[in-house]
Amino acid sequence: MAEQSCMGCDAGRREFIRTSLAAIAGVAAALGLGAEQAAALTARVGTASSVTGDQATYPIPATDGVTIDRDRQVILARAQGAVYAFALSCPHQNTALRWDAHDDRFQCPKHKSRYAPDGTFQSGRATRNMDRFALRRDGGNVIVDLDTLFRSDHDAAAWTAALVRV
Ligand code: FES
Repeated sequence: MAEQSCMGCDAGRREFIRTSLAAIAGVAAALGLGAEQAAALTARVGTASSVTGDQATYPIPATDGVTIDRDRQVILARAQGAVYAFALSCPHQNTALRWDAHDDRFQCPKHKSRYAPDGTFQSGRATRNMDRFALRRDGGNVIVDLDTLFRSDHDAAAWTAALVRV
């Protein structure tokens, strides 16, 4: 049996992609977002490029966004000119946090606590910001100290300083 070509299928796929991209652009425009900010609405699954003892190295993300490293229980986030490394677990009862792409914030699936992209508590049952790991810049990477975690209610100054400007 002769193989049937499907020129209409290719045209249909192109139309679907074109329509989808237009829809995404429309949503971003409706939210008042530029192209770079629209990209921030995505989350990626990633892992450290290397780990030595308690030091995990991650490439600095090229754009705003969130990378979740479940192996190390770390969320790496780039937002508004800074990179942060958060504990994956919610400060309330340790449930793994998620990135809410629709509202551009972190959300806990258990009791719905919400946090801004810099980890600041917004609403819900939690009583503090997301916990931040100590981190430092090393060229095009950040090195996260997995053994040093700052709580905003115990050491506000260290928590505030736990970021890398980019
Ligand atoms: S465990 Fe996250 S709000 Fe309760």
